[in-house]
Amino acid sequence: MRILGIESSCDETGVALVDASGSGTPRLLGHALHSQIEMHQAYGGVVPELASRDHIRRVLPLTDAVMAQAGLPLSAIDAVACTRGPGLAGALLVGSGVASALGFALGKPVVGVHHLEGHLLSPFLSADPPEFPFVALLVSGGHTQLMRVDGVGRYELLGETIDDAAGEAFDKSAKLLGLGYPGGPALSRLAEQGSATAYPFPRPLLHSGDLDFSFAGLKTAVLTQVKRLAHAAPEGPATSHLADPLTLQQKADVAASAQAAIVEVLVKKSLAALRATGLKRLVVAGGVGANRRLREQLNAICAQRGLRVHYPELHLCTDNGAMIALAAGLRAQAGLLVTEPIEAGWRFDVRPRWPLAELAA
Ligand code: KG4
Ligand code: ZN
Repeated sequence: MRILGIESSCDETGVALVDASGSGTPRLLGHALHSQIEMHQAYGGVVPELASRDHIRRVLPLTDAVMAQAGLPLSAIDAVACTRGPGLAGALLVGSGVASALGFALGKPVVGVHHLEGHLLSPFLSADPPEFPFVALLVSGGHTQLMRVDGVGRYELLGETIDDAAGEAFDKSAKLLGLGYPGGPALSRLAEQGSATAYPFPRPLLHSGDLDFSFAGLKTAVLTQVKRLAHAAPEGPATSHLADPLTLQQKADVAASAQAAIVEVLVKKSLAALRATGLKRLVVAGGVGANRRLREQLNAICAQRGLRVHYPELHLCTDNGAMIALAAGLRAQAGLLVTEPIEAGWRFDVRPRWPLAELAA
């Protein structure tokens, strides 16, 4: 079964073709991505209306590119999958509209996929795919969750953030340092030159005894530290950006210390989730899963304790169409695919807010 996947929930248009024939691990036949980051950079964050309009411009050329890569005509597609939610409503409607039109034109079923299910299953496309059951640490720009995963569609929420997501903590700290959007990759690059122990930023809920997270306080602590350094700078407080008077070393130290705080909490809570469930396998997915320090620390500590840790390929950590096609493919293999019959008409029922726990097997 060949499935075309379309991702358009936020600021990346992703299209991919996955072969999920038989019961073997699905294979990626082609994938293409357009990131809108440059377009949104001028505004310091995603502008939903611009995101929707750009998805419209990109999605069909990307589909052509994917089919050309796979060397197959559109008629070779057996089902069209798109991200149904969560995400920006207008952006989701673009993917859903195009998927429905393609499905209608080709006479093939359309499948709405949960974006986070895509993320959490994405390591199945890697060279080292996991086996069920495992604990999943989902760390993206909008979500920070620990899940127990017993199989496709069998997800139990173990803990989640009570305020900001880990990606948001990276992005907001980066913004306070004048690093632009999205801040995660920029902050982690700058952190390479800094000291992780320069500033003792808080590790919220580290010893709370549950598996929840809280990152809102970190932003305040970073803001306070940047203000303190700016006021102590020889030229005094900034006129343009708050962090301007800081030296590059000071900025790097703030970046490294903020990253260390976020990573320590993610690592310790993941280990606590493995202990609580008795499982020995961890899957890390979502944009923050690309973070080098997080990977280094998890690799080291898991090796020490005889635990296995799996990640998606680096280029599939952030949003992409491959994970959407893959999730639909794995659901099909598990006999869980819910498709829209052509006779039922075409529903554009995207779910901008959609708890993963509602995805019952
Ligand atoms: O999964 P994703 O692409 O989109 C959402 O579904 O939210 O995640 C994007 C998030 C952003 O907050 C971005 O700053 C963060 O992932 N991110 C990183 C890194 N690469 C992306 N955070 C830390 N280190 C990175 N290397
Ligand atoms: Zn995502």
